[in-house]
Amino acid sequence: MSIKKLDFAKPFFEDVEFVENEAEYFVEPKSIVINLAHKTHGIIDAEGLPLEPLKAAVLQGVVLKGVERALVFRNYDRYDVTNPETAALVEKTWKSLYEWSGNERQKGIPYHKTEKIRLTEDTSVTVCYAAPMSPSGPHKEHAKDIDEVHVQLQGMGKVQLFRENDPAAFYREFILAPGNAHDRIYGENGEYPWHQYHSVTASVYVPVEIER
Ligand SMILES: [Fe+2]
Repeated sequence: MSIKKLDFAKPFFEDVEFVENEAEYFVEPKSIVINLAHKTHGIIDAEGLPLEPLKAAVLQGVVLKGVERALVFRNYDRYDVTNPETAALVEKTWKSLYEWSGNERQKGIPYHKTEKIRLTEDTSVTVCYAAPMSPSGPHKEHAKDIDEVHVQLQGMGKVQLFRENDPAAFYREFILAPGNAHDRIYGENGEYPWHQYHSVTASVYVPVEIER
């Protein structure tokens, strides 16, 4: 049983908690709760409604029961990244993808992110910012063999699927608004179609990475 405060997404998300094995947990301020009990298929009870693993919800003043693993962004809307002044501050404060990776391919992509933190033996998260209407770049492979899900915190975005590495080969997208997590896009053996995140407005989301 534990509730751990996390400061990796400061200063824009300064009230983040990782909750493990709590029979009851009270979500007091308006929060986005991500159920990370994917290994055990543990469903959280939110006042009689289920919060499934790898799904999220916007909640306030709600008692959760049976929390095995959950990441909670309390007061997730204290700052508003769709406000251009806030967006400019995020861009100044969090390093760009290129600054993190040194990968030439990512130079000029208007994405910024926090450090990646490991929550459990197999699960890591970052918080990522994207400027409006910006594609992240289609890919099929990841640095590691991971199951990947994106959870929206602020603004609007989408995850798009392509039959091949070509924007014209688009065949499906998942629209993301705050509190949404898209359905799984990987197959049973961890294989992915070509896919990318694409912001609509200025956007902040959480890529959840689960090692296989
Ligand atoms: Fe990906």
